[in-house]
Amino acid sequence: MNDKLTIALTKGRILKETLPLLTRAGIEAVEDIHSSRKLVFETNRPEVQLVVLRGTDVPTYVRFGAADMGVVGKDILMEQGAEGLYEPLDLGIARCRLMTAARVGWRSDGARIRVATKFVNIARAYFAQQGVHADLIKLYGALELAPIMNLADQIVDIVDTGNTLRANGMEPLQEIATVSSRLVVNKAAMRSRYTAITQIIADLTAAVQEGGNAAP
Ligand code: PRP
Repeated sequence: MNDKLTIALTKGRILKETLPLLTRAGIEAVEDIHSSRKLVFETNRPEVQLVVLRGTDVPTYVRFGAADMGVVGKDILMEQGAEGLYEPLDLGIARCRLMTAARVGWRSDGARIRVATKFVNIARAYFAQQGVHADLIKLYGALELAPIMNLADQIVDIVDTGNTLRANGMEPLQEIATVSSRLVVNKAAMRSRYTAITQIIADLTAAVQEGGNAAP
């Protein structure tokens, strides 16, 4: 343990867009995160360190105070709930849509449908609101395979370019939500490290505006 201010980052495509934003906010890892297998990185600011996690684990680290702040997709916050977290800033990066999708030409016969997704809480709420009886099947990846193999009729998944759906003979149906990455802050840390955290929020806010990432 140390008393550095810790920012938890989401690895993968969100990370690629987060690092330039952090640089513009004056925070830079002292080594190349992309080419390293390390999980903890010192920065040019001795009081700030970065940790790199799976997106689904970022809210947990921040909620329990193991990290003071984090960068995570809105889809994950919607799915897990934002208890114990402040969400002060839309970073405007990794924009995509959370959608239902099915094989091209698939039509519901009005009976129950089978839906495969990583986002079971979002899907449950969505189909209930639509008055659709959906049997939810939790998967952890490669959702597009589920309709091909007749495991499910529809999926609920992130759509960015739409290439993955097209490549697998599927089409988007309905948009559930638009998604972008958010800054989250541990509520207790917000009080105990108020000055440092509000400065980082201000620096990131300026970086978002400067980079043209602000929400439309
Ligand atoms: C996401 C999502 C789709 C794909 C959509 O997966 O689950 O498969 O990206 O992007 P596209 O519309 O541009 O094709 P990701 O690559 O993040 O991997 P994951 O399923 O392991 O999260």
